[in-house]
Amino acid sequence: MLLDGKKGLIVGVANKRSIAWSIAETLHREGARLAFNYQGERLEENVRSLAAELPGSVVHPCDVTKEDEIDGLFAKVKQEFGRLDVLVHCVAFARKEDLEGEFLATTRDGFRLALEVSAYSLTALARAAAPLMEGGGSIVALTYLGSEKVVPGYNIMGVAKAALEASVRYLAHDPGKRNIRVNGISSGPISTLAARGVPGFTRMLQIVRERSPLPRNTEPAEVGDTALFLCSALSRGITGEVIFVDNGYHIMGM
Ligand SMILES: NC(=O)c1ccc[n+]([C@@H]2O[C@H](COP(=O)([O-])OP(=O)(O)OC[C@H]3O[C@@H](n4cnc5c(N)ncnc54)[C@H](O)[C@@H]3O)[C@@H](O)[C@H]2O)c1
Repeated sequence: MLLDGKKGLIVGVANKRSIAWSIAETLHREGARLAFNYQGERLEENVRSLAAELPGSVVHPCDVTKEDEIDGLFAKVKQEFGRLDVLVHCVAFARKEDLEGEFLATTRDGFRLALEVSAYSLTALARAAAPLMEGGGSIVALTYLGSEKVVPGYNIMGVAKAALEASVRYLAHDPGKRNIRVNGISSGPISTLAARGVPGFTRMLQIVRERSPLPRNTEPAEVGDTALFLCSALSRGITGEVIFVDNGYHIMGM
C-alpha cells in the first residue's frame, strides 16, 4: 500500500480506455482516495459509473479552459479531502484539421486552443493544487515522443507536448522548495479516444511493435505502474523529469 491514506486528483478520464483510468485503478489499489473531473455533461455518466468502482471517490465537472470550473473542482477537493497529495494531468486536445495535412497550415486559433488545453492547463491545475499540498505532493503529466521528434500527423500536439514538458521542468523549480515534485511520463501509443484522432494511429502502433527493443505496444497498466512510482515516496528524489514508458522505442535510430 504505497499510497495508504493519500488523496489524489485525476484529471482526464473519458472512458475505461483512458490512460487516466488505468492510473486511477493503480493508485486506488495502493490505497489512494481519488477525485475525478469530467469535461462536460457528455462524459459525466461514463466518469461517474467508473468512479463508483473505486469506493470513496469524488466526481466534479471541470473543463480546463474555464477558470471558474478549475476553482470549483479544487474547492470540492478541499471540502471532501482537506488536502491533496497527488495530481495527475491526462488532458490533451487539438482540432482535427490541425492534425491533418501539413504543419505549415496550423491556424492561429488551432495553435492557441491546443496549447491552452494540452499545456497551459498543467500550470493552471498545479497552481490550484499547490496550496492543498502542504508538506509535499506529486504532480504527474502525460506526454509523448512527438514533443522532440517529428511524428507525421501529430503536428500541433507535438508543439503542445514540448510546451508541456518545458512546463514540467519550470513547475518543478519553485514548488520544489515546498517538497512538491512535478514529472512527466512519455507513453508509447495506446489506443484511446484521443489517440484515435491522430491520423495514421494504427500504423504508429504497428511501427512501434516492429521496432521497439521490447517488441510490443505499451499497456495502460505499464503507465499506471510508473505513475504509482512517481506518486509514491519511492521516487522522492526525482523531479522535473520525463520518463519514457514506451518499451524503449525512443532509443532507436532506425
Ligand atoms: N494514447 C496515447 O497513445 C498517448 C500517448 C502518449 C501520451 N498520451 C497522453 O495521455 C493523456 C490522456 O489521453 P488518452 O490517450 O488517455 O485519451 P483520452 O481521450 O481517454 O483522454 C483525453 C482526456 O482529455 C480530456 N480533455 C480534452 N479537452 C479538455 C478540456 N478542455 N477540459 C478538460 N478535459 C479535457 C478529455 O475529456 C479526455 O478525458 C493525454 O495528455 C495524451 O496526450 C496519450
